[in-house]
Amino acid sequence: MKRSSISVAVLCAASLIFASCGGKSPASETTAQSALEMTAQSAPVSESVTDSEKKEGTAEKADSQKKAIAVYFSRVGNTEFPENVDVVSSASLQTDGSSVKGNAQLIAEWIAGEAGCDTFEIVSEESYPADYDQTVEQAKNEQNENFRPTLKTVLENPGQYDDIYLVFPNWWGDLPMPVYSFFDTYDFSGKTIKVFITHEGSHFSNTIDTIRNLEPEAEIIEGLDIRGESVKDEELNIRTWVQENR
Ligand SMILES: Cc1cc2nc3c(=O)[nH]c(=O)nc-3n(C[C@H](O)[C@H](O)[C@H](O)COP(=O)(O)O)c2cc1C
Repeated sequence: MKRSSISVAVLCAASLIFASCGGKSPASETTAQSALEMTAQSAPVSESVTDSEKKEGTAEKADSQKKAIAVYFSRVGNTEFPENVDVVSSASLQTDGSSVKGNAQLIAEWIAGEAGCDTFEIVSEESYPADYDQTVEQAKNEQNENFRPTLKTVLENPGQYDDIYLVFPNWWGDLPMPVYSFFDTYDFSGKTIKVFITHEGSHFSNTIDTIRNLEPEAEIIEGLDIRGESVKDEELNIRTWVQENR
């Protein structure tokens, strides 16, 4: 059984790394602040993950074709914003013209477009607060308690995938806890996980090592770290990386 407990020392170190990298504190960091004005994205599936469904990743592959999926966690899809939220005044709002999106979601969609695969969103059953500061505090508490939120989205037949592109935001120098829940739920032994992170100064922190510990039998490849505030300038880089690392 894979489990990694987050010690207080590690969390402190992650916070120090964030500070020493010149990153803004999450509470003052502008791109994520804009998430306050974003609308929640609907999740692809709304079933609950049950114990009997856990560790499905060991199932045999459905076919011999190499298959990929772009999995992402983003604050936008995990937050219920009020209907009257002001989306116009936010300078750093991420939008593709018709809808409002999180940074990790945008990255995942570009990856999926280039790899020709589907996306899957990790969505926690309990939404995070619409208030940014409250989310920052909750995320910190969840890390301190090594809390595993229950997920409401289910990755169907995970054994069919050879390559998993994983995209998530750096939260306090670590994976958001719902991403830990994701790794608790599925076993990616023998698979390749290509990791992309979005952040505001902390880059990958220790997340690559953490994922290697969570999935010791998978090949973990460091993809790109993308600054949230300039995510829209990175589409070509991301697409090129996918083409060159298939
Ligand atoms: C709870 C929380 C904690 C964060 N912690 C960090 C951090 O430690 N280092 C960092 O560089 N950025 C941090 N950020 C900023 C996000 O990583 C960044 O804005 C990211 O691009 C957001 O992606 P998203 O729109 O997909 O959620 C944090 C944001 C939140 C909401």
